Amino acid sequence: MPATMKLCIILVGAVFCSAISGVYGRPGTRNKCPEVRVKGQLNLEQYLGHWHDIQRFPNDFQHDTICDTANYEQLNTTHVEVVNTATANNGSIISIKGVAYVPDPAAPAKFLVLFPRSSIPIPYWVLDTDYTNYAVVYSCINPQGNATIAQEFAWVLSRQPMLQEQFMEAARGAIQRNNVDPVEGVSRFMDTVQANCVNYRM
Ligand SMILES: *[C@@H]1O[C@H](CO)[C@@H](O)[C@H](O)[C@H]1NC(C)=O
Ligand SMILES: *[C@@H]1O[C@H](CO)[C@@H](O)[C@H](O)[C@H]1NC(C)=O
Ligand SMILES: *[C@@H]1O[C@H](CO)[C@@H](O)[C@H](O)[C@H]1NC(C)=O
Repeated sequence: MPATMKLCIILVGAVFCSAISGVYGRPGTRNKCPEVRVKGQLNLEQYLGHWHDIQRFPNDFQHDTICDTANYEQLNTTHVEVVNTATANNGSIISIKGVAYVPDPAAPAKFLVLFPRSSIPIPYWVLDTDYTNYAVVYSCINPQGNATIAQEFAWVLSRQPMLQEQFMEAARGAIQRNNVDPVEGVSRFMDTVQANCVNYRM
């Protein structure tokens, strides 16, 4: 749940108002969250641990951050502790802690994540993972209030600071199967810089 923690910041602050700049990717245009198929019978124990953010949809809470990582640890029988860490563009290391849980035990890949300053829990759905190399996470919130565009977030995560081509292809497969990034040739994904990182494993 690397960026999930930052989702709350979005919700508290500029989620629904701040336009994503054209610097990376392109903004979403969906007016309704798509139907997606998540990883069946996600094994939480195998999924826990440390992940690196390899690609993401541009989002305001990870604006200009590099070296983004997420660490997931079992907090108690029902909750997982989420710690997201990154390096901001001024060089300072930023970190946020939240908790995740599975509201429906029949859908173990569909988490909700709550951060201290967020008013509502944010979806964190694992579309696919092999546990040891890659994961694809998707989050979509239908338009709220007068908004007409759904808020979508997506990440490709890797156990390592880079992701080998074969696993990137597996991740792409899950993204395509679920129509998460539908416009051919115009991906919404941007690369997350994972070089010269100082915030790993503090
Ligand atoms: C687990 O931790 C969460 C978050 O701190 C808390 O809300 C929940 O009540 C705890 N559950 C149990 C069974 O201790
Ligand atoms: C650096 O940027 C972070 C994230 O935007 C901010 O929280 C922090 O206050 C900044 N630190 C300094 C020294 O400007
Ligand atoms: C939604 O639109 C109505 C009608 O234009 C307006 O009065 C209201 O303030 C808007 N609400 C928000 C939250 O922007």
